Amino acid sequence: MRFTPILDEFGTYPFVRLDEARRETAARGIQVIDFGMGDPNEATEAFIREAVAASLPERCKYPRAIGLLELRRAIAEWCEKRYGVPVDSEHEVIPTYGSKEAIFTFAQVVDLSPPKNLVLVADPAYPVPERGARFAGAEVLRLPLTEANGFLPDIDAVTAETWQRVALLWVNYPNNPTGAVAPLSFFERLAELAVEHDFLLCSDEAYSEIYFDERPPSALQVPNRRNVVVFNTLSKRSSMPGYRSGFVVSSREVIDALRLLRPTLGTTPQEFIQLASIKAWRDELHVESTRERYRAKREIMAAALERAGLRVAGSQATFFLWIAVPAGETSEGFAKRLLDSGIVVAPGAYLGEHGEGYVRMALVPTLEECGQAAALLERLL
Ligand SMILES: Cc1ncc(COP(=O)(O)O)c(C=O)c1O
Repeated sequence: MRFTPILDEFGTYPFVRLDEARRETAARGIQVIDFGMGDPNEATEAFIREAVAASLPERCKYPRAIGLLELRRAIAEWCEKRYGVPVDSEHEVIPTYGSKEAIFTFAQVVDLSPPKNLVLVADPAYPVPERGARFAGAEVLRLPLTEANGFLPDIDAVTAETWQRVALLWVNYPNNPTGAVAPLSFFERLAELAVEHDFLLCSDEAYSEIYFDERPPSALQVPNRRNVVVFNTLSKRSSMPGYRSGFVVSSREVIDALRLLRPTLGTTPQEFIQLASIKAWRDELHVESTRERYRAKREIMAAALERAGLRVAGSQATFFLWIAVPAGETSEGFAKRLLDSGIVVAPGAYLGEHGEGYVRMALVPTLEECGQAAALLERLL
């Protein structure tokens, strides 16, 4: 049997390795508190769960790839309310099966023939944009996110020749893993470059609603969003990771192309999930309480880290804390040391070469578990 060499090249998805290490530690009888994966663990609001139950039909036919119009309307209205940007629910929205599949498959909709076969991604980063690009046959260039640059890529370091070859540029703010937020001027500059050099600016905004002071801007707010593609999801804002419900909003040309591709993929959410999603996009109260819960956990953990002499970098938004590793240790070594005392964090190096020197703590355990982890941390260091 012959499999694509790209599978070997990427190896095991890093978080599968992390999960194995967590299980081994638990098997040794150590109680583990898992801040490793960014898998939200908050209860989904009753009104959303009830909407799923109430929407379950006797017969459940294939959902159509275009998505329910009522859901597209709810998404368009949400974008207008949140960002003050008009979005056409008929032509500019497509509901997706969470955002991961939409991000992974997006490279398949663009022409990646050379010389315009380059996809720019960040490092460290959520690995899916890079993997999607590679499986679609693109060449990938990683742009470092460094603390000195506020964890934004250094756009000036990209040469004019490189821009000419770019088909897609992926950005993700508020950022996983660094928690950094990008100003609107950053999106404006990139959107201008996208028009100038004819590439698509893909903005993964999965954490747009997990903020603690100012509301983060969206790439949708740029003056000319013709080349902008925004991905968002209910997984984080509405604590619905297992429901699989997200969206792509873009210009009509992009959405038309996706409407040609996506019926083959069969990745639209089930209609009972789409119907419950309408309710989730139309309610902000539950999102406010979600933010408050993350804020409480953040305060406990940030204070404990500080008392333990650890420095938190970035981390303005999202439910991640990006923690600088003590001098002389690697991110994997430090994560191992924390794991031995029952605290699971993700080594920054798992998220890219430039993640070395940091570990990522996802504030997904309960508030009570955060309290226990805070006590463990103080004893450890
Ligand atoms: C940066 C980022 N984008 C997208 C996603 C995908 O989320 P979902 O597929 O649940 O919508 C995640 C999930 O962890 C993420 O961290």
